[in-house]
Amino acid sequence: MSTQAPHPTLLIPGPIEFDDAVLNSMGHYAESHTAPGFVKTFGETLTLVRKLFQSSNPAAQPFVVSGSGTLGWDMVASNLIERGENALVLHTGYFADSFAACLETYGANATQLKAPIGDRPSLEQIEQALKEKTYKLLTITHVDTSTGVLSDVKGVTELVRRVSPETLVVVDGVCSVGCEEIAFDAWDIDVVLTASQKAIGCPPGLSIVMTSPRAVDRFRNRKTPPASYYASMANWMPVMQNYENFKPSYFATPSTQLVHALHTTLTQITSRPLSERFAAHTQASDSVKAAVAELGLSQLAPKPENQAHGMTAIYLPEGLLPTDVLPLLLKRGVIFAAGLHKEIATKYIRFGHMGVSVTDPNRNHINSAIASLKEAFSEAKQAKGL
Ligand SMILES: Cc1ncc(COP(=O)(O)O)c(C=O)c1O
Repeated sequence: MSTQAPHPTLLIPGPIEFDDAVLNSMGHYAESHTAPGFVKTFGETLTLVRKLFQSSNPAAQPFVVSGSGTLGWDMVASNLIERGENALVLHTGYFADSFAACLETYGANATQLKAPIGDRPSLEQIEQALKEKTYKLLTITHVDTSTGVLSDVKGVTELVRRVSPETLVVVDGVCSVGCEEIAFDAWDIDVVLTASQKAIGCPPGLSIVMTSPRAVDRFRNRKTPPASYYASMANWMPVMQNYENFKPSYFATPSTQLVHALHTTLTQITSRPLSERFAAHTQASDSVKAAVAELGLSQLAPKPENQAHGMTAIYLPEGLLPTDVLPLLLKRGVIFAAGLHKEIATKYIRFGHMGVSVTDPNRNHINSAIASLKEAFSEAKQAKGL
């Protein structure tokens, strides 16, 4: 059982609940970021990031930098594409709009390929788009946290390699890494960017980016200097390589306590087969989705192959708003999130089922949240005379 102070269970699609050992690692005493103890922890953490991505290619390069998931977008937009070049952004919700806005901030031309809400662009549509223009990179939101739509990273990457092999495949894995399968080398992905606070189970504050040799070549061979200083991959790469070789290094001060927490959670995650972790998330997701169907409700993502395994976006019955249901859930000790997609934000709620809430059955978070969801809906409907 957790020894944390009693609190409502946080089941939003990130940040998520913490394992005690992960949280306790944040209480590490002060140490220099260049002292041998920390250098070892950081170096091992980078190697654990490779394991998390199932990558054994020594020429692939992980980055762990203080910042949130958004910093990963800036790293991509300021290093891997230049002013006036084209990016194809596959749109499955809110986060594609923001990634496109970030790419445009640095001068790229972002073309969005949009699917109706709850769906994803088809492989045929993507193939057609790739044949119409030359794109320096393509972005996929693996799980769009605003809609709960899962994208087919493996299928899209295969397609890009066949139709436009020089286009970098960039995956926003902020809401997928740690709960959805990602085989970085085997699928031949170029970038996965993620953050510490979702299925990885660490407090917010670290941006984690994995890059392929193709992506490394891209930023090394830019015609113009990187468009950012702090987010420059060329500035961070030697630092990451030194730490992984257990040599102290400095470009900007790392978040030492957060790196300890990341080390702890990645050690836990990689100490068991990743397939077991993905299967546990699929099983939890299946129970949530079955309960949603039993309540007569529908998901934003109606097709099973489009449905994320770490979260569920649930349409509210006609006549109910998130503000009618969320307080009733809180009264029962569980926090869900309101809608986020701007066109339908008041029509749905989001249930995050990731990390320790899924992998530690002693916590009973998912079954008890499902029970609370059923009660809260019935109370809300009764209150509204529905
Ligand atoms: C899919 C996705 N991408 C990017 C982000 C941005 O990450 P952050 O809020 O950590 O900056 C989020 C945040 O929830 C997200 O869900």
